[in-house]
Amino acid sequence: MQRRRSWAEPFKIKMVEPLRMTTRAQREAAIEEAGFNTFLLRSRDVYIDLLTDSGTAAMSDRQWAGMMLGDEAYAGSENFYHLEDAVRHVYGYKHVIPTHQGRGAEHILSRMCIKPGDFIPGNMYFTTTKAHQELAGGRFVDVIHDRAHDSTLEHPFKGDIDLAKLTSLIDRVGAGKIPYLCVQCNVNMAGGQPISLANLREVSALCRRHGIRVFLDATRAAENAYFIQQREPGCAGRSIRDILLEICSLSDGCTCSAKKDALVNIGGFLCLNDDALAEEARNMVVLYEGLHTYGGLAGRDMEAMAIGIEESVEQDHMKARIGQVTYLGEALMREGVPIVKPIGGHGIFLDAARFLPHIPREQFPAQALACALYVDSGVRAMERGAVSAGRNPDTGQNIFPKLELVRLTLPRRVYTQAHMDVAAESVIELFRNAPKVVGLRFTFEPKHLRFFQARFAPVTGARVLLTEDADAPVSRCCCGAGGCRENG
Ligand code: F0G
Repeated sequence: MQRRRSWAEPFKIKMVEPLRMTTRAQREAAIEEAGFNTFLLRSRDVYIDLLTDSGTAAMSDRQWAGMMLGDEAYAGSENFYHLEDAVRHVYGYKHVIPTHQGRGAEHILSRMCIKPGDFIPGNMYFTTTKAHQELAGGRFVDVIHDRAHDSTLEHPFKGDIDLAKLTSLIDRVGAGKIPYLCVQCNVNMAGGQPISLANLREVSALCRRHGIRVFLDATRAAENAYFIQQREPGCAGRSIRDILLEICSLSDGCTCSAKKDALVNIGGFLCLNDDALAEEARNMVVLYEGLHTYGGLAGRDMEAMAIGIEESVEQDHMKARIGQVTYLGEALMREGVPIVKPIGGHGIFLDAARFLPHIPREQFPAQALACALYVDSGVRAMERGAVSAGRNPDTGQNIFPKLELVRLTLPRRVYTQAHMDVAAESVIELFRNAPKVVGLRFTFEPKHLRFFQARFAPVTGARVLLTEDADAPVSRCCCGAGGCRENG
């Protein structure tokens, strides 16, 4: 019988960043101070930071060496040309316009293409993407296949677009009201779920027939390409590079946050194949980001990005990256923790509605779970449920999306398997003590992207997690019955 063989990361550690250990009492004070919003915690109070995979990657020695080669010229920086070459080489588009991060590119694309009253279909919303579409006067329409909204359903390509939904939107509003289709690769809010090449080919052909442009959100397109290689019939022998080029060839351009796949701490880009549109984008980038050869970035940032883009499509890197996410997910599944299935690309998504069935949706179970996890172990996660979804612009009512999730997002090349074990044990412990977690209510609600800066309070008591510690006077009482006056 063949014995299972372990594998490990394809890198070794050259520099370490010490972490501060905290006590439960310190964490309780910190989360209260942060208004029960993990975004408002100070990073020094966090042990394992799984808030996001955005801008949190460890750069390679080559990227750091590249930082020393920054050509900080205002115009025509050498690093811009390296970046342009890398993006053309790996993504295959004609025009490359750097931006300070993904939302900078989204802003420019939305402003250029969307007129008030337009509709922008997409495979599930992403917060900043939808916000920029709405600011430009458009309305986002979700055309992802329904299975993406079911956390229990196993399907290899839950990012796929439902052609019937897209066709019915075109029939209803007319192609003239649809400036473009926005296709997200490895759909973030669905749990990091990929779109298949087969679906993308069909969608792209449909849009071409109607004269509708297709723009990718290529933020996690390399991870999507890996899933296609692993799961799509006929793709097993193809390289990530080759698949990524085909994905991009099915679109007219992309927005991209380089803070994810591309392994940098800051940066993004907008790509376009159309010359006239690219000219307009270059005009606009000067207003909002900076000259078209730096787009809000330092030369050194562009150099690190150029190198990171090439590293992002290496097979060994991607195998370890997705492998670590799978390792954490499988540890949780073995204990019956409800997570989005199948395990996605950039993190594990806890199904908070099933994890905490005693907390009504109006009391934001995912927000409460993220806070309870932090209190338990110093692991910081992110709410991806009703708080993130915001309010319906017409009615002002809270939107309650089908998925009420907590995202444990894995930074690239940062944490070890031992960190994953600690995170898994904490989630499992909480799952066993789930009834002790209490819901939350808003005490402050910002107008835009409310999840970033909102503040909350527990609906009962002062703590989100009513743990043994919180119950201390009862359990530690000398008479054992919790009623002893002497020892309080
Ligand atoms: N598109 C997707 C799919 C994203 O996940 C993000 C960012 C953006 C666009 C915006 O890019 O942050 O560089 O401006 N996602 C981060 C996250 C914030 O934590 O998921 P940005």
